[in-house]
Amino acid sequence: MPRSKIAGIGMYVPEKVVTNNELKQYMDTDDQWIQERTGIQERHYAHRTEETTTTMAVEAASIAIKRAGISAADIDFIVFATLSPDYYFPGCGVLLQRAMKMKEIGALDVRNQCSGFLYALSVADQFIKTGMYKNILVVGSEKHSFGLDFTTRGRNISVIFGDGAGAVVLQATENEQSGILSTHLHSDGESAEILAMYNPGTHANHWAEKNYAAFDEAEIGQMFMSHTMIDQAQNFPFMDGQSVFKKAVVKFPEVIMEALYKNGYNPSDINLLIPHQANLRISQFVQQKLKLRDDQVYNNIQHYGNTTAASVPIALCEAWQKGMIKEGDLVCLAAFGSGFTWASALLKW
Ligand code: ACO
Repeated sequence: MPRSKIAGIGMYVPEKVVTNNELKQYMDTDDQWIQERTGIQERHYAHRTEETTTTMAVEAASIAIKRAGISAADIDFIVFATLSPDYYFPGCGVLLQRAMKMKEIGALDVRNQCSGFLYALSVADQFIKTGMYKNILVVGSEKHSFGLDFTTRGRNISVIFGDGAGAVVLQATENEQSGILSTHLHSDGESAEILAMYNPGTHANHWAEKNYAAFDEAEIGQMFMSHTMIDQAQNFPFMDGQSVFKKAVVKFPEVIMEALYKNGYNPSDINLLIPHQANLRISQFVQQKLKLRDDQVYNNIQHYGNTTAASVPIALCEAWQKGMIKEGDLVCLAAFGSGFTWASALLKW
């Protein structure tokens, strides 16, 4: 059975850097508050009109494809993870296929927020293991800056997120010494509303307050995106930060240990852990719990903020570019986020 390995990796962050102090022109916040609670110093924001989730993905994917030593025409399948798509539908996968002038290959969009990239990687891994595809482009990309509440009302969330993209070419290999050893996916929908963007959507909350029969079709149509929703900022993400924190610090170590046990390793065997860059405090908590040294964990949230589906491939790419990952290294990727969903992947580089 073929295994899959990362044959090429790329990342892209927009040129524009926004410091914590610069956010003060929009909201009542301060650098110290943000750094103490999240570790974030700055983040990148996409160009308002010229950059989208897809264009950033194209940049990252082009680098990954080049580093894999193949061309866009060699890609057999696309798995694209994002929570900030260019359009409500169709997904970004087909937009990437079009932009990169790829063949009429399959393109799948994954909606698993912070663990989106790991879910995407796992899907791609299964396609390669079955022998169906040889080269799969796996992408995580986000343009958060276009969908955040930049008033003081939204400050607990908007200061955390940044824009960017990361991509890998996952390739079939017969080499049993390298590649993805296993992936582990989980979910618990009980807390779906704790970290969520409710609107626009088809959920029935609106109906509870009013008599359904009183609406005519025109009014119902307008409820998908109403003025009230916008006035009440319901089209922005909601997060109960403390509940997210409490669950994340349990599920991160759990899913990392699951991957290690499955393959007969201990935390001390990890050469590099790349946790989803949710919050530096969460990463530090996980590091402490697993008794990992500083050089075993890579964090870059300080400079990019939380880029959701893009955070794991951006951090992985940056660590690799810095020479922190060598051939034969045991690398663990882990994520936790909205859903809740959480996941890990263990690989030999
Ligand atoms: N600047 C200044 N003050 C702020 C800001 C801000 N940006 N945001 C909130 N505050 C204020 C609040 O208004 C509140 O003021 P009050 O006490 O006068 O009412 C005070 O700070 C404390 O607010 P909390 O929301 O209780 O702040 P908390 O200490 O919980 O920190 C945070 C918020 C950083 C989000 C924290 O809950 C956390 O780390 N949660 C983990 C969730 C997370 O990291 N999510 C990332 C995205 S999800 C993911 O990737 C998994």
